[in-house]
Amino acid sequence: MKKLLSASLMCADLINLGDSIKKLEEAGIEYLHIDIMDGAFVPNITLGFDLINAIKEVTDIPLDIHMMVNAPSNLIGRMKLGKDDIICVHYESDVHIHRTLTQIRDLGCKAGIAINPQTPPESIEFLADSIDMALVMTVNPGFAGQKIFAGADRKTAKMRRLLDEWGHPEIPIEVDGNISPANGKMLCKNGADIFVLGTSSLFMKDKSIKQAAEDFRKMLTEE
Ligand code: DX5
Ligand code: ZN
Repeated sequence: MKKLLSASLMCADLINLGDSIKKLEEAGIEYLHIDIMDGAFVPNITLGFDLINAIKEVTDIPLDIHMMVNAPSNLIGRMKLGKDDIICVHYESDVHIHRTLTQIRDLGCKAGIAINPQTPPESIEFLADSIDMALVMTVNPGFAGQKIFAGADRKTAKMRRLLDEWGHPEIPIEVDGNISPANGKMLCKNGADIFVLGTSSLFMKDKSIKQAAEDFRKMLTEE
């Protein structure tokens, strides 16, 4: 499966977001990863719906919406998205998560399920027919600049094995949190397909976005 880069906008230059998006387009980034946080499911608040709808107006890069909110089903209708956009909700955030995933697909978007570090990959067995992506959180959600949790490699590999066993080799695995080049390579070897790139590999003081993206892709392909 093709390896794709998803730029974490919460780590971009938020004062010059339009300029950052242009640079991400020039770098050939395949998704814009937009973290929505409600201050309850995670102790942080980030980007909101007006900004998301404004971003959608100015770029053709598909959006990879990561909803770290309680009761996401109340909120998914607030975004004007299309068939190439992903809305990813947390397994731990909704007692009727299967219904919410169905609602996302009914909106015409791709549906993703995210699992926190402590949530076993087996948990999503009966959701596998209702998703287009599985997001394995490699840090506890909510903040950039954290460190990957021990076991993220084994968990990613197990997620890949299970999805294949459940008859879904086509479902990509996204990894999100401290995806440095080295962690990216390790996770790629363990089955990751989509890499959420933030402060660990893309938005860096000493490197342009284009160069950082090129370096990350090169690292993925090197033996
Ligand atoms: C964490 C966020 C991420 C990511 C940011 O909840 O979803 O977007 O951690 O990137 P890093 O971890 O590299 O700063
Ligand atoms: Zn995220």
